[in-house]
Amino acid sequence: MCGIVGYVGPRRAAPILLEGLKRLEYRGYDSAGIAVGQGSGVLASVRRVGKIRVLKEAVPKSLEGIWGIGHTRWATHGGVTEANTHPHFDCSGKIAVAHNGIIENYRALRGMLSKEGAVFTSETDTEVVPKLVAKYYEGDLEAAVKAALAHLEGTYGIAVIHADEPGRIVGARNGSPLIVGVGENEMFIGSDVMAFISSTSRVVYLNDGEVVSLDAASFKITDRADVQVDRKADAVTWELGEIEKDGYPCYMEKEIFEQPDSIGRALGGRLDRENATAKLGGLNLDRRFQRAVSRVSIIAAGTSWHASLVGAQLLESVARIPASAELSSELRYRNPVVEPASLWFAVSQSGETADTLYAMREIQRKGANVLGICNVVGSTIARESDGGVYVHSGPEIAVASTKAFTSQLAAFYLFTLHMARMRDMSRSEGERFLAALASVPDKVKETLGGRDRIQAIAKKYSRAGDFLFLGRGLLYPIALEGALKLKEISYIHAEGYAAGEIKHGPIALISGEVPSVFLVPHDPLREKVISNIREVKARGGPVIAVGIEGDEELAGLVDDFIPVPAMDWRFYPFTMVVPLQLFAYFCALELGRDVDQPRNLAKSVTVE
Ligand code: G6P
Repeated sequence: MCGIVGYVGPRRAAPILLEGLKRLEYRGYDSAGIAVGQGSGVLASVRRVGKIRVLKEAVPKSLEGIWGIGHTRWATHGGVTEANTHPHFDCSGKIAVAHNGIIENYRALRGMLSKEGAVFTSETDTEVVPKLVAKYYEGDLEAAVKAALAHLEGTYGIAVIHADEPGRIVGARNGSPLIVGVGENEMFIGSDVMAFISSTSRVVYLNDGEVVSLDAASFKITDRADVQVDRKADAVTWELGEIEKDGYPCYMEKEIFEQPDSIGRALGGRLDRENATAKLGGLNLDRRFQRAVSRVSIIAAGTSWHASLVGAQLLESVARIPASAELSSELRYRNPVVEPASLWFAVSQSGETADTLYAMREIQRKGANVLGICNVVGSTIARESDGGVYVHSGPEIAVASTKAFTSQLAAFYLFTLHMARMRDMSRSEGERFLAALASVPDKVKETLGGRDRIQAIAKKYSRAGDFLFLGRGLLYPIALEGALKLKEISYIHAEGYAAGEIKHGPIALISGEVPSVFLVPHDPLREKVISNIREVKARGGPVIAVGIEGDEELAGLVDDFIPVPAMDWRFYPFTMVVPLQLFAYFCALELGRDVDQPRNLAKSVTVE
């Protein structure tokens, strides 16, 4: 989704802004632009529809100016046109604004400002912001921005510059993330740390309602009551090396193959062998409350929701705590019952998904503890939750989530072990569970060894127009995830279904042209899934099965077989999702898709 970058310092701003925009590409966008102060009372601006490289080619190499802002736009209000691309300007062209979020009352503001003579050149909600700032500008950009903000309803992260105030950037946050990067005699502003990570790892997170005014040497934050806030810089732990492709053709492939390590990091230091349990340092919950928890409710979106569905089943079956996972966008508007002994989780890779954040705030308002399971350290959900678990996947750049998913699973398995050991799980059962969990990175590594076979199968099927993904129990959410991966990056229509449900509808779709991907573990439901496969085969449907190494019966029954190594059946979600990630990836490659930045999608969905 939209990205913001801003720079002020001794260096030429344009190349720094362009690099920042390049690093924000992963968020998803359709157009981009920059505005750079020229020091002589004018702003130079270049905006283009399409990729950053198109913008880069259009920016004159000689463009001077030591402060400026840039933006990647993901269209919400108004089509994908150059006129709608940010930055947007006031009528004099001296004030430029880059904005993330949605100004909900923009129509009324536009009407008011038009009556006062403002001429609008775009269809965006954003354009009211520079016009409002101009209305209040009397030589002090910070004061004018604050006066303008008083009119805005909705969400925003904004960065504003004025041609007559060289070396100053004013930012404001309400619902859309904004972060200051503190360098050596230079300052940055960005919607996430990627915007400036190659220049500094010292960051200052803004909270909702805060305004920041920065120049090359200093930053000043004020809160809603206009009181100055004293805030120290935090260090970002991500290294630049982690956000390079590292020899892989794209980020998604790199991230899929990183999973043995990223799962290892999620488990790192958290397996307590002495007590046959898991240690989770950040829960911030009194032990008596943990013991008394009578329900766990989980909110999330997209891939994080699929991990949550596995987590809920696991908590219920292993720790014997009633648990459910719900889409945050649904929960938010249905006034849920929040019981006193309930524990909530908000699960989000980015920690910025608007639906999950707002749903979390609603649950907190009702008095419950909400724990975060996040990847991005310092993200809004991580900071506002009452405690939680960082999954430590490292930066996930491909839009389609892979390594964050398996790390979220790891967090749920750890939490389940911890809660189960506080309840009925015996020490010896705890030891078995812990040993299986510790073996996951190696089993995933072995599964990745099937890459060539999976590529060949993907090649064979990539021209199909529709797919079904089918699994039961803990693997039903994995079927949903397999279908989602395929849709996201190859644009092939796919449906994930509980295998037992196919006879209630989807079986009508089965034909020689519609392949089904079945997940077949050695678990108590194996025979049931085999019956479901027979139902599909009887109707002429091609079947690909992800099953257990050495399962000759299954291999003989299906058209194509992808083996994963045998292990405790409760842990197959980790290994069985991997072939599905690779299958989607290779189908997308086969079809020539843009794997890392699929059309219409955003990595971090910061609007509702
Ligand atoms: C977007 C991304 C998905 C992601 C979902 C939830 O739709 O494209 O890959 O699963 O948001 O994101 P979160 O950061 O909250 O996990």
